[in-house]
Amino acid sequence: MVVYSGKAKDVIEVDDESVQIVFRDSISAFDGIKKEELTDKGKINCLISSKLFEILNEYGFETHFIRQMSDTELLCKRVEILPIEVVCRNYSAGSLCKRYGLEKGLEFKVPLIEFFVKDDKLHDPLITSEVAISLSMIEKKEAILLEAITRAVNEALRKVFESISLTLVDFKLEFGKTSNGRIVIADEISADTMRLWEKESGEIKDKDRYRQDLGDVIIHYQDIKERLEQVKSIPPLNLKSSVRVIIKLKDSVLDPAGEVTLRSLKRKEYENIEDVRLGKSSFLLFSETPSFALQEKIEKISKDILSNPLIENHSFEIYFGSDKLQV
Ligand code: TMP
Ligand code: ASP
Repeated sequence: MVVYSGKAKDVIEVDDESVQIVFRDSISAFDGIKKEELTDKGKINCLISSKLFEILNEYGFETHFIRQMSDTELLCKRVEILPIEVVCRNYSAGSLCKRYGLEKGLEFKVPLIEFFVKDDKLHDPLITSEVAISLSMIEKKEAILLEAITRAVNEALRKVFESISLTLVDFKLEFGKTSNGRIVIADEISADTMRLWEKESGEIKDKDRYRQDLGDVIIHYQDIKERLEQVKSIPPLNLKSSVRVIIKLKDSVLDPAGEVTLRSLKRKEYENIEDVRLGKSSFLLFSETPSFALQEKIEKISKDILSNPLIENHSFEIYFGSDKLQV
């Protein structure tokens, strides 16, 4: 049974836990206004996606990918897709240039992360994480995790593409929730969902060829696929996650040290301070990529070791890399 039919893929139910994703030859742009059938496009994007998911799984990312079933089919975990698309940009291009009047190809020192609403009728509008959280599209914890995972994926894919002389300009990720609530990278990662430029010449290799009527779409997609097939082992990478855990006494628990601090502040004539509660923070550095599993691990560490859940509450944030540990 087809459970979903999109602009370029169909999703067929296999069982309660898994689906088959079928890549068609359809290509579209501008929310489906421009569309066409291109021979072999489904096959090529399926193979690109399959290879990239294999690479991500090898780096330790949690994805929906199980295995390739045929040239145009992937076996994947059954997930509910989150209504947010996460875009990561290393260089300015596409809608970012249009929105802010930027020239193309400016490199960002820190890659940009943007959230978009997954809704063609609304033309996938940009959304701040605050609004997405407030409209219950995602939880705050999820927004933080999606950003950290996307930054880590960027680091990994940038290295992989660099090794085959391609520049990863930007890409889009979608995430899904499995039946037991785990967040994994989902959908496809292909020449349709990223911008890739030839490293030396800057020649466009991705779906912009179709959007901009540059021609030879399939020739360039095929070239990406063939270069990816040359990647026999993943480039070594030291993926890290840094975590800040904040522990606070529950509001109902007396905080004598906080009270002493408040009295001392008042004695020194600092005004308009009503309350002081002393908390503690822990900073942890993990040598693994941000993931739902890491989020679970930190939850357990916070409850079992870093805090006393009888009298304390905790919250935490996961960042990609080690920079954020520098306070
Ligand atoms: P944008 O510059 O048009 O916002 O696109 C950013 C990246 O997201 C680019 O790599 C292409 C990808 N993308 C999709 O995968 N699906 C879409 O519907 C759009 C608009 C972009
Ligand atoms: N994916 C969208 C579409 O098929 C937009 C795009 O990629 O430009 O219409």
